[in-house]
Amino acid sequence: MAGSVEVFGGGTAVITGAAAGVGAGLARHAALALGMNVVLADIDEAALRRTCAEITDEGGRATPVVVDVRDAAAVQSLADSVVKESGPLRLLVNNAGVLQFGYLWDIPVDGWERLVSINISGVFHGVRAFLPHLLRQSEPAWVLNLASIGAVTARPLQTPYIMSKHAVLSMTECLHQEVALAGARHIHVGAVLPGAVTSRIFDEAGGVDRGDLSAAEMEREAMFRVREHAMGPEEAAATILQQAADGEFYIVTQPDAVHAAMRDRAQQLTARRPPAPVRSRFTAQQPE
Ligand SMILES: NC(=O)c1ccc[n+]([C@@H]2O[C@H](COP(=O)([O-])OP(=O)(O)OC[C@H]3O[C@@H](n4cnc5c(N)ncnc54)[C@H](O)[C@@H]3O)[C@@H](O)[C@H]2O)c1
Repeated sequence: MAGSVEVFGGGTAVITGAAAGVGAGLARHAALALGMNVVLADIDEAALRRTCAEITDEGGRATPVVVDVRDAAAVQSLADSVVKESGPLRLLVNNAGVLQFGYLWDIPVDGWERLVSINISGVFHGVRAFLPHLLRQSEPAWVLNLASIGAVTARPLQTPYIMSKHAVLSMTECLHQEVALAGARHIHVGAVLPGAVTSRIFDEAGGVDRGDLSAAEMEREAMFRVREHAMGPEEAAATILQQAADGEFYIVTQPDAVHAAMRDRAQQLTARRPPAPVRSRFTAQQPE
C-alpha cells in the first residue's frame, strides 16, 4: 500500500477553509510532511496570511487566496487560475464549514442561509469548478469533502449543521458514482467523517437572537467540553490523507466513535426505530 508521501508528494493541493482548524492542519501536513504545493483558500484574510506564513517559514510551499466558497464565480476563478499556474491538481479538499446552535424554530433566517450556502453550496461550487479540469487531466486526483460524524447521527440544537453534513455525505456518495459512470478512473472521491478535532468552529458558530437563547448556549458549552478531548488538527490531517492514499471512501479520524455511530444509524433505520430520545434540558436542569 502506497504511503501518502508517494501518492501526494510534489502535487498541488487546494484546501478551502484552510486558515484555521482542520483545514489548516491539512494544509500544514500536505505542505510540510508530504511536500505538496498548497493553495489555501479562505474568507478570513488575516488568518489565511498567518497560516501561510507559518508554513512558508518552516520551508513549505503555500499560497493564500481569499475566497468565499458561497461565491460560485470566485471558486471558478480559483480553479481556473490554479490549473493555469500549477498544472494538474492532485488534491481538492472542500473543507470550509460553519455551525449554528439553537432550536430549529429559533434559528435566524440569515444563520440558516449562511450555513446552507457555505456547508452545502460551497462544496457544490468546489465540485462544479474543479471537476471539469480534473476530468480533462490524466494524472490521478483526489476530491475529499468534509462531512462529519454528524453525517450519520441526529443531534438536537445543531439541526442545520447536522442536516448539512448528511447532505455533504450523500452529495459525495452520488459524486463517487457519477465519476465512475463518467469513466474517470483517475479521480478518487472521498467523504471525510471526523469526530471532534480541535478548532474554532464552536466559538465561531451562530446562536439565536429570539426564543430559547440559553438552550443554544448550553449546547455550545457542551461542545466546548467535547473539544477538551478532541484530536489535534495535524494528527487528523495525517490520518485523513493516509486513508485517502489507501483508497478509502469513508475516511474517519476516530474509527471507534464513527463506526459506532454508523452501526447505530444502520440499526435505527433497519429497525425503523425513531431517533433516540434525549434528556430534556429542563429535566437536566433540575437539582439532583
Ligand atoms: N472540528 C471538528 O470537530 C469537526 C468535526 C467534524 C467535521 N468538521 C468539519 O471540518 C470542517 C472545518 O471545520 P473546523 O472545525 O476546522 O472549523 P474552523 O472554524 O476552525 O475553520 C473553518 C475555516 O473555514 C473558513 N470559512 C468559513 N466560511 C468560509 C467561506 N464562506 N469561504 C471560505 N472559507 C470559509 C473560516 O474562516 C475558517 O478558517 C467543517 O466542514 C466542519 O464541519 C469539523
